[in-house]
Amino acid sequence: MAFTRSRATHTVLVASNRGPVSYTLDETGALTAKRGGGGLVSGLSSIGPDAGALWVCSALGNGDREAVRRGVGEEGVRMLDIDAGTHADAYNGIANSALWFVHHMLYQTPLEPVFDAEFRRQWAAYETYNHAFAEALAEEAADGADVLVQDYHLTLVPRMLRELRPDLRIGHFSHTPWAPPDYFRLLPDDIAAKLLDGILGADRAAFLTQRWADAFTDCCRAVLGPDHLSSSNTRIGVHGLGADADFLRERSHRPDVDERMAVLREQIGTAPDGGARRTIVRVDRTELSKNIVRGLLAYQELLADRPEWHERVVHVAFAYPSRQDLAVYRDYTAEVQRVADEINSRYGTAGWTPVVLHVKDDFARSLAAYRLADVALVNPIRDGMNLVAKEVPVVSDDGCVLVLSREAGAYEELGEDAIVVNPYDVSGTAEALHSALTVPVGERAERTKRLAAAATALPPAQWFLDQLHALRSAGRSAGSV
Ligand code: F6P
Repeated sequence: MAFTRSRATHTVLVASNRGPVSYTLDETGALTAKRGGGGLVSGLSSIGPDAGALWVCSALGNGDREAVRRGVGEEGVRMLDIDAGTHADAYNGIANSALWFVHHMLYQTPLEPVFDAEFRRQWAAYETYNHAFAEALAEEAADGADVLVQDYHLTLVPRMLRELRPDLRIGHFSHTPWAPPDYFRLLPDDIAAKLLDGILGADRAAFLTQRWADAFTDCCRAVLGPDHLSSSNTRIGVHGLGADADFLRERSHRPDVDERMAVLREQIGTAPDGGARRTIVRVDRTELSKNIVRGLLAYQELLADRPEWHERVVHVAFAYPSRQDLAVYRDYTAEVQRVADEINSRYGTAGWTPVVLHVKDDFARSLAAYRLADVALVNPIRDGMNLVAKEVPVVSDDGCVLVLSREAGAYEELGEDAIVVNPYDVSGTAEALHSALTVPVGERAERTKRLAAAATALPPAQWFLDQLHALRSAGRSAGSV
């Protein structure tokens, strides 16, 4: 065995690429820790290191790597300092290029996949990276511990860990959509089989919606054979992560959010009749699957077809750069800026900026925009869930109409009270924006109330505990729970 079990004391372990804390290193050599939020963070904190919880994650930047070298860290977190080149190949090459593109069905000419020798080299790094996680978990887990492995970065870990530690209860959770078989099979056959078999090393494989769970089981049948899944011991589950209402309501009423609301109101300005301008808000990472450019084009069509909205509406678009190591993401970020500028130069006037685009990540400003939104535009090409769709109705001050892609996981829970769009249909989205802007106030308030109730049905801490309980009662026999 390549690992030792001298530290095998933890009874609940989470594994993910990005951990709950990250470090920045300044010019003086000082390290500053920044804690993240999200479902796993609140879920695992509800158990806590004293009760034997441990989070295993990657060191991502120089700050994290320096923290590992200096032995700086938080109790309950173990950062793995995997060789930077191996991490880059696994994260940028396999996880965020091949796997992200397959599950979000993002390939299109000239971006069709080319799985060549370079891909195989990156795949070897992905295996090494997954193995580093499996070994660390095998070292840290107490006898019979529960291990919850997260996402497409770590697809191979359940099988690898099962081989090292057959005594553990292992769960895998996918935060992305899962591709349908015809698309998944773009991947080379042996790699497709390894990815599915990797997850089938778990006692339980869970997804954000039934649709993604069904796609996974369809892929197992298509790639591994019709009987493979029923003869495996993996149960399939669904846990639709919801918004954290208590946190959002409290956080969105702090003074820093009020300050940003005042600044945004200035930028939005007032309509010619002196009334408030209407706002169409979107908040995303600048991520190809989020479909920001088609959203801008739909807004442009709205302005072209319906001049009555000129000077009376503003599109507040927050697009926070992400994965800038990849050229396709850098190009997309530039395209978002270019289209926004074009709309502003074509339609803007001295007192009206039709698109207010911000690219610097600022959570308080995002909450300010949620509070001000008349319409929220959430139009991804495909999305595992999309929490913005769930957060806006909770935070909105005066009620907000949700324009929602039918390809977002959130559609399963929110579709009835949203205005639903096909994300590729720019004209249909323009029409949906117009309808959303004209929903009467009373109906808008009613819809928002129902959306907020559906959006908060499974708060993050409960989402996490549900998975843990389901894993504990799963046993190792096939079927759905
Ligand atoms: O949607 C799946 C997911 O893992 C999210 O949980 C997360 O926001 C994102 O993808 C990963 O982003 P990054 O590459 O910045 O870690």
